[in-house]
Amino acid sequence: MNDKLSVLIIEDSQDDAELNAWYLKKAGYNIDFTRVETPGEMKNAVASQKWDMILSDYSMPMFDVLSALAIYHASGLDIPFIVISGAIGEEKAVEMIKAGAHDYLLKDNMMRFAPVVKRELREAHLRQNLSDANIALSASEERYRTMIKASPDGIFILDINGVITEVTAAGLALFGTDAPADLVGKPFSEFVPAPEIRELAEIYEKTIREGLAQNIEIRLLKKDKSLLVTEASATLLHDPVGRPISFMIIIRDISQRKNLEMQLIHSDRMAGLGEMASGIAHEINQPLNTISMAMDNILGELATDEKIEKTYLQKKTDKIFENITRIRNIIDHIRVFSRGHDDYISTAFSINSSIRNAISMVSEQFKYHAINLNLLLDDGLPQVVGNTFKFEQVILNLLSNAKDALLEKESGQDTWVDKSIEIRSFAEKQQLIVEVSDNGAGIADENLQQVMLPFYTTKDPGKGTGLGLSVSYQIIKEMHGTIEFSSTVSVGTKIKIILNIQNAREE
Ligand SMILES: Nc1ncnc2c1ncn2[C@@H]1O[C@H](COP(=O)(O)OP(=O)(O)OP(=O)(O)O)[C@@H](O)[C@H]1O
Ligand SMILES: [Mg+2]
Repeated sequence: MNDKLSVLIIEDSQDDAELNAWYLKKAGYNIDFTRVETPGEMKNAVASQKWDMILSDYSMPMFDVLSALAIYHASGLDIPFIVISGAIGEEKAVEMIKAGAHDYLLKDNMMRFAPVVKRELREAHLRQNLSDANIALSASEERYRTMIKASPDGIFILDINGVITEVTAAGLALFGTDAPADLVGKPFSEFVPAPEIRELAEIYEKTIREGLAQNIEIRLLKKDKSLLVTEASATLLHDPVGRPISFMIIIRDISQRKNLEMQLIHSDRMAGLGEMASGIAHEINQPLNTISMAMDNILGELATDEKIEKTYLQKKTDKIFENITRIRNIIDHIRVFSRGHDDYISTAFSINSSIRNAISMVSEQFKYHAINLNLLLDDGLPQVVGNTFKFEQVILNLLSNAKDALLEKESGQDTWVDKSIEIRSFAEKQQLIVEVSDNGAGIADENLQQVMLPFYTTKDPGKGTGLGLSVSYQIIKEMHGTIEFSSTVSVGTKIKIILNIQNAREE
């Protein structure tokens, strides 16, 4: 207690004031005191410096303790105010304490003085700390509130049962309303379309398990029942003893980004179709040739005088129908493939059929270029969830890249003939893998990082748009999978699509 204590003593007697000071010094306090005896003097004293404690007599010729307490309160001070008086009745003592004095002592019994001063100084100190902490707390709360209000993302507080308890204005706007009552008090699940309830459950579970769930894509139902594509991140909030009490969910509107991605996918699909057009000519020419040939044979037979064998005719017409069906399949497939509106439909599908469909679109073209296509598909694979046409688009992109790489390598060599592409599908450690390998030109190490960037292409203008791989990556990401590359220049490239079996269904 070496710090100097500034004490204001309200007392008409200089002797009594000095006596009080003496007691304090005796109790070990290093003090500095000023005596006042009128309201005016007290007001000046209070206004002119900082005090640590007030000692006041009960009544004085020009002042009294209740008036002194009134000045004390008006000044906003929160320091010990101790009354030291001659004998007073119980009633007056109660009145004084009610008026805000911290304690009172009798002049002729000062034994309690030291412990009372000690206690009151300590409590005043605690009150001060608490109020500093409160000021800091409300300043920081204010800061957070401003930050939260300024966030363009919608922020929701949900109780542990998933009922919305608070929402920011941005959150209301996302749902197309400005009335908190449209959301507050309702379960968050009310705003999630039925097929996505599983995603919501996943958000809750992951947040409870790991304290955090980030960037989970989920669609929400707006007030007008239209759908909003969003990305949700959630954290768990705890009470002071560490029990989870609520979720904070941050919702970001990603519909614009999604639209751009969709446009990219669609334009890639169209570019793919354009490029495929020449291939399609081959695909259709081949069965047309077979049909013409069969018709020729029949006409040739008719031209002779002999009777046509029924079985011969049957064989030829079967062949014709088989090839008509083939052409019809190709045309149907192109029609479905080029449609844009099935973009969001996810179903369980077989990866192998998707791969075979993709191949049916390019096989004749590959034959024409003398490219060997080896298929090593494991038929026992579970189905996966996603959009089969989008997956087909990925395979077509990879096949078209592999073909280009083979032709590029060929153009640099005189004698090379063995152009091959291998597609493998298999399961490995809870993962479903599709590998597309070629023995083409390969990719230099320094370019490997860039091949997936949109518009990165090494092909001649008009030949490549550089969208194939970035779009493929996007599609596989949507299926919660990933794509890996390995490549050696002049040796070949292997592209590996890795999907989680968790995202798969037993066939
Ligand atoms: N199998 C491969 N072998 C060698 N290089 C490849 C292979 N696959 C991709 N690349 C390289 O990656 C680049 C980007 O491929 P991507 O499919 O994104 O675009 P692109 O084929 O150039 O054009 P697009 O597919 O839009 O017509 C290619 O230009 C090529 O340089
Ligand atoms: Mg490509």
